[in-house]
Amino acid sequence: MKKILLFAVVAFAVVSCYKVDYKDPNAPIEKRVEALLSQMTIEEKVGQMNQFCGVRHVEKRDKKAQADNQDAQGYYPGINADTLRKWTQQGLIGSYLHVLEADEANELQRLAMSSRLGIPLIFGIDAIHGNCLAPNNTAYPTSIGQACSFDTEMAYTIARQCAKEMRAMNMHWTFNPNIDVARDARWGRVGETFGEDTYLVSQMGLAHIKGYQGDMQGGDDVLACIKHCIADSQPVNGANHAPSDISERTLHEVFLPPYEVAIREGLAGSLMTAHNEINGVPCHKSKWLMQDKMRDEYGFTGFVVSDWMDIERIHTLHKAAPSRKEAYYQSIMAGMDMHMHGIHWNEEVVELVKEGRIPESRIDESVRRILTAKFRLGLFENPYCDEVEGEKVRMCEEHRTTALEAARNSIVLLKNDGILPLDVKKYKRVLVTGINADDENIMGDWAAPQKPENVTTILEGLRQVAPQTNFLFVDQGNTPKKMKQENVDKAARLARTVDLNIVVAGETSLRARRGGKTCGENQDRAEIHLYGLQQDLVKKVYASGKPTILVIVAGRPQAVVWEDEHLPAIVCAWEPGMVGGQAVAEILYGKVNPSAKLAITIPRTSGQVQMYYNHKPSHYRYKLQDIPNKPLYPFGYGLSYSTYEYSDLQLSKSEIAANENIEASVTIKNTGARDGVEIAQLYIRDCYSDVTRPVKELKGFERVALKAGESKRISFTLTPEHLRYYNIEMERVVEPGTFKVMVGPSSQDKDLLTAEFEVK
Ligand code: BGC
Repeated sequence: MKKILLFAVVAFAVVSCYKVDYKDPNAPIEKRVEALLSQMTIEEKVGQMNQFCGVRHVEKRDKKAQADNQDAQGYYPGINADTLRKWTQQGLIGSYLHVLEADEANELQRLAMSSRLGIPLIFGIDAIHGNCLAPNNTAYPTSIGQACSFDTEMAYTIARQCAKEMRAMNMHWTFNPNIDVARDARWGRVGETFGEDTYLVSQMGLAHIKGYQGDMQGGDDVLACIKHCIADSQPVNGANHAPSDISERTLHEVFLPPYEVAIREGLAGSLMTAHNEINGVPCHKSKWLMQDKMRDEYGFTGFVVSDWMDIERIHTLHKAAPSRKEAYYQSIMAGMDMHMHGIHWNEEVVELVKEGRIPESRIDESVRRILTAKFRLGLFENPYCDEVEGEKVRMCEEHRTTALEAARNSIVLLKNDGILPLDVKKYKRVLVTGINADDENIMGDWAAPQKPENVTTILEGLRQVAPQTNFLFVDQGNTPKKMKQENVDKAARLARTVDLNIVVAGETSLRARRGGKTCGENQDRAEIHLYGLQQDLVKKVYASGKPTILVIVAGRPQAVVWEDEHLPAIVCAWEPGMVGGQAVAEILYGKVNPSAKLAITIPRTSGQVQMYYNHKPSHYRYKLQDIPNKPLYPFGYGLSYSTYEYSDLQLSKSEIAANENIEASVTIKNTGARDGVEIAQLYIRDCYSDVTRPVKELKGFERVALKAGESKRISFTLTPEHLRYYNIEMERVVEPGTFKVMVGPSSQDKDLLTAEFEVK
């Protein structure tokens, strides 16, 4: 009887599964996926795993045709945009990237929906700090600036708004957040990251994922993609794509935790492998990474996408596969689900299946994951965007206001001998100069040029905020690579005639400035001081004898040592986004009290790299002969127009068991004359441990709004998770012994109150 019953139940389950119509929005997603999968040919399945650059992108490239650098431009030899349209209609393409216009997305989607099974495309785009790689969308401050605000709520809001702008133009999948831990300032992509601290990167990454993905019920939500897995931020010489040779311990302590948090807590829907090899194995063929760590250990259920043609590079660059086809084989068998991007995949992967090398069941796993994402995003029901309605969402007032507020919170005041905030009565004639003074460079990498009326440059911001001041401008072009001595000299001459000089220097990250870029993807440097003639400009303007202040716009730390020694004020604006010019001006003129703190150490020279605050105890046993052991500006540091006093650090207990929480509380007083926001930081140190531990590690932070004269008591909870580390056997444990708690306004010892507790 029992057997009959069991048979009936199984038979019912099987029948009901097949009965499901994959187009039925009320059926459970797993069943829709299986029903669809069961009807797909192997060609259609492998096509779902492939991505292409948008047809307009390809049309533009076609014009330059053979002369193009095929790899960087995504040129497809022998193929034109119409071929892609045809393949789409045949259901042989699963995804497009770099489609930059809503009507193009809708056009391609119509073709996909008219294919045999009508499987919608998923459109991916690098919406890193807003969907601003496409025109007419909000460009928020880049991630390094967002991290300096230590404002996870703001990061969430930015991602949520970005998701809305994406869906407004039929984009469904952002290649963000970048949760690389950036500990090498020479690397050009620092601006895309949340800085050097694993905990801060994890928390900011989590906020972004939650903002993008919402409840993943379709509508306004987009899929997040955590990248680049793993450790591409610490390549040899800081050079993008170069090998990362990093111990298993450092990977687990520094680079992997943001992924674990993103997967376990954020349920990140997709993941991108990194260009580099990790300890000898190209990430794109690392089973250890994709399967063992991400899926088996952390529970990743989304899909893995390759980075730009990096599967091919297993063969062409890394020489770790004898042919392209073998590279496809290795990558898929290691856990790869989607190929970014190209024309050989479909044919060669189908061959691999037909030859019996890749089991079809392995292909099914990947397709299942991709289809699940498409169903969850509601693409089968809602494949198009309303181009007219979308215009109301993109760059709307609310989003621009967020961008402005985020910029205000992300600008770090590095030095101020009292000249700031600027006195409008004293400084009536002001010279403004430098490559970033009146330029869209303030938007940073992964931004397309936007309409000038939508961008507030720093010069425009100054004119807006201090209309009574006479601002004179000397143009230095928009890249330090092409500065002209005559313009430097012109600024130097004019500097003598004014009351104050503002030099806006730094780097050029804007994508469109090909040939002029010094920072951003593939723009790595040996030195990190002001590039080209910029230091000459600062020195000559300073030689006028008139007060000279420096505003830095850059996506990586700038070693402004001479400037720090000589100038009365330095402001680091990072890349503050499309309305960043207003925020910079508001800070210079004191309309906004700066609050941001550095999410990354600023070294005195690239020779100090690697330099990060959470180093091991022996790191600075001896100093280098030619440079102090101290950074120019440390992690967590940033000035305000107020002063804050920390007192009375108390722990809730002096002793805890290894599975217990402990609270740390402290009083913070605004002892200045202005209202402000202080970013309080909590660090811990495991005083003696079997395996060496960092001298301090950030484990908590809070933005505390304080009126002038006001005091507040705040508290942090430390959980066993905060105290845990990998012991000598690489087991994650809380070791008994003494822990030191440090609370204060920066990572510098002199700033921190301390207390201790014991773990029994
Ligand atoms: C970058 C990725 C990016 C991809 C698509 C690659 O070159 O490394 O971060 O998502 O291009 O634009």
